[in-house]
Amino acid sequence: MKILVTGGAGFIGGNYCHYMYEHHPEDTVVVLDALTYAGNLETLQPLMDQPNFKFVKGDIRDRELVDKLFAEEQFDAVINFAAESHVDRSVEYPSIFVETNVLGTQVLLDASRKYNVKRYHQVSTDEVYGDLPLDRKDLFFTEDTPLHTSSPYSASKASADLLVLAYYRTYKMPITISRCSNNYGAYQFPEKLIPLMISRALADESLPVYGNGANVRDWVHVYDHNSAVDLILRKGKIGEVYNIGGHNERTNLQVVETILSQLGKPESLIHYVKDRPGHDLRYAINPDKIMHELGWKPIYTFDTGMKETIQWYLDNKEWWEHIINGAYQNYYAEMYKDRQ
Ligand code: NAD
Ligand code: TYD
Repeated sequence: MKILVTGGAGFIGGNYCHYMYEHHPEDTVVVLDALTYAGNLETLQPLMDQPNFKFVKGDIRDRELVDKLFAEEQFDAVINFAAESHVDRSVEYPSIFVETNVLGTQVLLDASRKYNVKRYHQVSTDEVYGDLPLDRKDLFFTEDTPLHTSSPYSASKASADLLVLAYYRTYKMPITISRCSNNYGAYQFPEKLIPLMISRALADESLPVYGNGANVRDWVHVYDHNSAVDLILRKGKIGEVYNIGGHNERTNLQVVETILSQLGKPESLIHYVKDRPGHDLRYAINPDKIMHELGWKPIYTFDTGMKETIQWYLDNKEWWEHIINGAYQNYYAEMYKDRQ
């Protein structure tokens, strides 16, 4: 099988390429990535010389480039990981989220239709369901939960999902969609909670916890997310949506405390800052469908996954130090200046 992996130089797409090399070396992977601030070729370095791996720098919004690539490569499947992915950035700069996440998805759908791709898989998020109250631990997102978005990021992802479903209904395109909860693991850009807190704690810098730290996220190791995406690609039913999650709900404060304790750093580093506007309270996935219908099972618990992840950031400092020593410094100063 020849698979187009868009956004393959990012966190989850990059880990998917490593997953493919480990589990399906017989398949060919072509990455299409615009190398925005979030794309990093160092993540793909170990794969660059493999015979059935190819990297193409390009934008999913570029219709001409995408059409030419599809004509040349004749993909069997497309997995669309490419997106603007950070909620805080979407609050400041919503337009690029609509352009990449909605219009970019449409370009890929049109090309997949024109070149008869056998499967188009859209990597979506549980954030399309909005949030759940903190005091109703009995509530979970299922695939039937209505879309009810809060941020420009989640609204753009939900819009893309609706387009994908429209192409299924209208053109009978062979699509699937996955909606995963928060990921963590190696190669995550240090603007996201876990790598941000690890890198700052190691430098003895303050850890900016939004609001009172009571917001809840349902954490999935990136390996488990990718094993689910791969399973859906190979065994999922056309036209279906699958939620991905492992019942690993933690408050943000619990996550930060776990990091501090493993790094042997004091809790006095925690600094409560102004809350994110529209901050979703709780995400929690019901993963019964993918577990029962496709037999998916995560291999990580939050404890084993966090131990391994923190160790990875300790062992791979040069990967994230390149990032935080560059343009990222300006981002942090700009993004957090009004939160103090
Ligand atoms: P990321 O920001 O780390 O990576 C995104 C990648 O897409 C980068 O390599 C970037 O260069 C590329 N990209 C951005 N705009 C592009 C464009 N116009 N054309 C081509 N490439 C472009 O994001 P991530 O965390 O790896 O997320 C990947 C996907 O998974 C996204 O669709 C996101 O919505 C979804 N998702 C993420 C999480 C999470 O916790 N990170 C959870 C559920 C779903
Ligand atoms: P994030 O990693 O941005 O993912 P998402 O917003 O998509 O869930 O944030 C995870 C949680 O951590 C979210 O509730 C916001 C919170 N958070 C902080 O408290 N401080 C921070 O500096 C960041 C980046 C996030």
